[in-house]
Amino acid sequence: MKIVGVLCAFVFIIVTGAECAKILGVFHLAGKSHYMACSTLMKILAEKGHDVTVVAAFKEKNPPKNYRQIYLDGLYEQTSAQSINLFETTSFAAITPIVFHFISNMFQEMAFNHTVFKEFMKTNEKFDAVIVEEFQSEAIKYVGHHFNAPLIVYSAMDAGDWTNPFQGNPDTPSYHPCTALPHLTNHMSFLERVENTLYYTYNNIFYHLISFPSQNRLLHRYYPDAPHLKDIAYNVSLVLLNTDPSVHEPIPKVPSMKDIGGFHIRKPKPLPEDLQKILDNAKHGVIFFSLGSNVKSKDMPKEKRDFILRKFSKLKETVIWKFEDTELPGKPDNVIIRNWLPQNDIFAHKNVKLFISHGGLYSTMEAVYHGLPVMALSVFAEQELNGKRAESNGFARHIRFQQLTETSFSEILDDLLSDPKYRENAKKRSGIMKDKPMDPADAVNFWVEYVVRHRGAPHLRSAALDLEWYEYLLIDVVLFILTMAGAFLFTVVYLYKLWSKRRSSIKEKKN
Ligand SMILES: *[C@@H]1O[C@H](CO)[C@@H](O)[C@H](O)[C@H]1NC(C)=O
Repeated sequence: MKIVGVLCAFVFIIVTGAECAKILGVFHLAGKSHYMACSTLMKILAEKGHDVTVVAAFKEKNPPKNYRQIYLDGLYEQTSAQSINLFETTSFAAITPIVFHFISNMFQEMAFNHTVFKEFMKTNEKFDAVIVEEFQSEAIKYVGHHFNAPLIVYSAMDAGDWTNPFQGNPDTPSYHPCTALPHLTNHMSFLERVENTLYYTYNNIFYHLISFPSQNRLLHRYYPDAPHLKDIAYNVSLVLLNTDPSVHEPIPKVPSMKDIGGFHIRKPKPLPEDLQKILDNAKHGVIFFSLGSNVKSKDMPKEKRDFILRKFSKLKETVIWKFEDTELPGKPDNVIIRNWLPQNDIFAHKNVKLFISHGGLYSTMEAVYHGLPVMALSVFAEQELNGKRAESNGFARHIRFQQLTETSFSEILDDLLSDPKYRENAKKRSGIMKDKPMDPADAVNFWVEYVVRHRGAPHLRSAALDLEWYEYLLIDVVLFILTMAGAFLFTVVYLYKLWSKRRSSIKEKKN
């Protein structure tokens, strides 16, 4: 171990002029898809030779070298005990900020309260950088301050209300819809802009008056000596965004925000023998069906499951379905079910021709990378937004799962399988995703090293962060200019009146 460390430091110094860094990742969210992306990010850094420590609610069976795990056991069970059947959830934009407020505080408090976490925070370890995941979660950023290391934030979403305020990045409600309003696009009508602006304002007021102060109190309950949360939350060196122009709209980003979308897509590994055979033998092609790691296909309403199976039984194609049960009554012969499937490795097979998905961002990006058309059946959270974007980019059809009927399912599936435009557009998008100066995994490593090399890279910090909100919005300046203009106008009118009065009194005297 020591020798590896010395060797790694040696190579690192020669190649980059910096030392082999000690990087801490604290991923307090007990959600599987969140963890999978974050652990991939840390694995990339470990593979590049850094000494990586990961605090999380999940554990790797075969961690790579230089990858130490601090496992918060029981956290996942604790949250999933409270979880609900996601097929039955409905979402109202108006309560979204309140829901996120409670979820975010719950996750953070569960981590702060965990014995393993508490013990870890008592150690006097030194780190060169700390990475946390953004989930409207500011209190957890304290870990960076605690270990006296520059803080890097990873966000599974594009720049938005979760990250913008803390980097001084321009918010643009005039053409960037809030995530909680998935029916809006970047091209909004007047009334849609009114709706977006009202929601944006409400969300901001709620966050800054209720959520943020409550997170500050939460932090000080566990760490009474911590500085005010303002001094921590607005002191983020770098934000890594899971964003790519192939799936997201262009919006402004200050230099401390970097797009690294697609970093989670690793080189395909060889398939297990049985799957390889199934894919090789599917001469009419393969439809891959998975609703991701949070939504369980086995919990799907029976009526919907039945008509989906009825449609599949009429197809020539082979369907591979990630289904979390060993039994699927009425399963036709061309449908293969498995509890778990190596999605990205399967996508790399030439016989796969369609992906039926929940519209999760990581999955959508994998489909784009491999140039696959998508049927997006959104269930919850930002899946509807991803599905709509994919549809407007021409490689997908989107419908909310709750609205799916036998007729619509059949019509959409036939359309996607028969019209070549979906495949062509998917290939175009794939070309966009692959056309970049640096592989996203290398970009992750570059920017983390950059922050380490430049000790937090304060030169990237936007001056917007040092302004009060009314200064940033120029409200003080506008008021000042209006007042001056008013005073000037008043003076002119007053002097004119004075002058005309005098003139008339002179005239009177003359008469
Ligand atoms: C803010 O970040 C810089 C760079 O990492 C660090 O030196 C400073 O101590 C941080 N401030 C606080 C209050 O944590």
